Amino acid sequence: MNRRYGLALIGILTSSSALATEPVQPIEPYQASNQAKVELGKKLYFDPRLSKSGFISCNSCHNLSMGGTDNMPTSIGHNWALGPINAPTVLNSSLNLAQFWDGRAKDLQEQAGGPIANPKEMGFSHSLAVNVLETIPGYKQAFQQVYTNDRIGIDQVTDAIAAFEETLVTPNAPFDQFLKGDESAISDTAKAGYARFKSVGCTACHNGQALGGNSFQKMGLVKPYKTDNAAAGLSAVTGKEIDRFKFKVPTLRNVELTYPYFHDGAVWSLEEAVDVMAELQLGQKLKQQEIGEIVAFLKTLTGDQPNFRLPQLPPSTNDTPRPDPG
Ligand code: HEC
Ligand code: HEC
Repeated sequence: MNRRYGLALIGILTSSSALATEPVQPIEPYQASNQAKVELGKKLYFDPRLSKSGFISCNSCHNLSMGGTDNMPTSIGHNWALGPINAPTVLNSSLNLAQFWDGRAKDLQEQAGGPIANPKEMGFSHSLAVNVLETIPGYKQAFQQVYTNDRIGIDQVTDAIAAFEETLVTPNAPFDQFLKGDESAISDTAKAGYARFKSVGCTACHNGQALGGNSFQKMGLVKPYKTDNAAAGLSAVTGKEIDRFKFKVPTLRNVELTYPYFHDGAVWSLEEAVDVMAELQLGQKLKQQEIGEIVAFLKTLTGDQPNFRLPQLPPSTNDTPRPDPG
């Protein structure tokens, strides 16, 4: 074997095995497969005509200019209804083992049908949403191109939205650059924070590419969490008492952008969220300085945000049902 090649190979092997021993892995950029489907899904994601009021789109509550969330404790939906739970980010949601805090949707396609028909979210129905799209020639054409059949189906709507959501990964965070070997990509404080994040045990639950999203864990494992929020967590899906108050561990990717925190949206600052986590999940009281280090680390998890031209939505026609805001 050529010596230079051999050395390069050893370099790759050692750096990737060093990576493999870390509890956190870098996020890889998305590779587009079906661009026409992604473009269609992007339009649907931004289209408020999928809601009864004609006013609320996916982007209303998962705003891609704000880390894929609404920065509200709980969302505002149809008729100004206050939702029951904090809106998680859509960024990197394709990495989740299931969707929703309690995991009741198995994947992004199944999830995407939920909000359209949820009376407190978009307040519409699947058949009415499809009726609207059917009257819009720009959509008819786009669906025909991607799915090659005559009538638009709700499964195609949710499939296209899911395809778009899969593109919403955020690679290239300073922390990923650091993981890949660029020592100067994050500050010494953030490095100390990462070391502490591991040593106190945060990585037991926040690990993998998304630092979360891959398990359900009890909120208040060591000490109970006090909240007025009624959400029961995983037990609402499994019916098992042992799953009470277990929630899907949220991703910590882009966490600097996705305040307020926790399923009830009760905590606005990262410092407080870290303090609560250490105490309730691990039974540890962290010092101010230690919290500051961990927060500095968490802020290095902000990756490349979605970057595309805003979609132009095809116009309604005289046949399109009118919005019903009331
Ligand atoms: C009125 C606000 C609102 C609208 C509109 C809305 N969502 Fe959500 N979304 C939420 C809330 C709140 C949750 C969490 C619900 C739960 O877990 O019970 C959620 C959860 C999700 C999740 C799961 C993320 C995770 O980590 O579990 C995804 C993905 C998602 N929404 C995508 C969408 C898409 C796609 C649309 C448009 C079809 C949409 N949402 C419309 C508020 C909204
Ligand atoms: C036993 C599992 C577990 C451990 C250990 C753990 N977490 Fe969590 N973490 C969770 C769960 C579950 C939630 C969601 C709780 C909720 O919303 O009710 C969460 C939420 C968070 C949030 C809020 C994210 C959001 O978007 O709402 C932050 C920040 C966080 N954890 C940081 C940490 C840090 C830092 C540590 C270590 C000090 C830690 N966690 C240890 C399970 C864990």
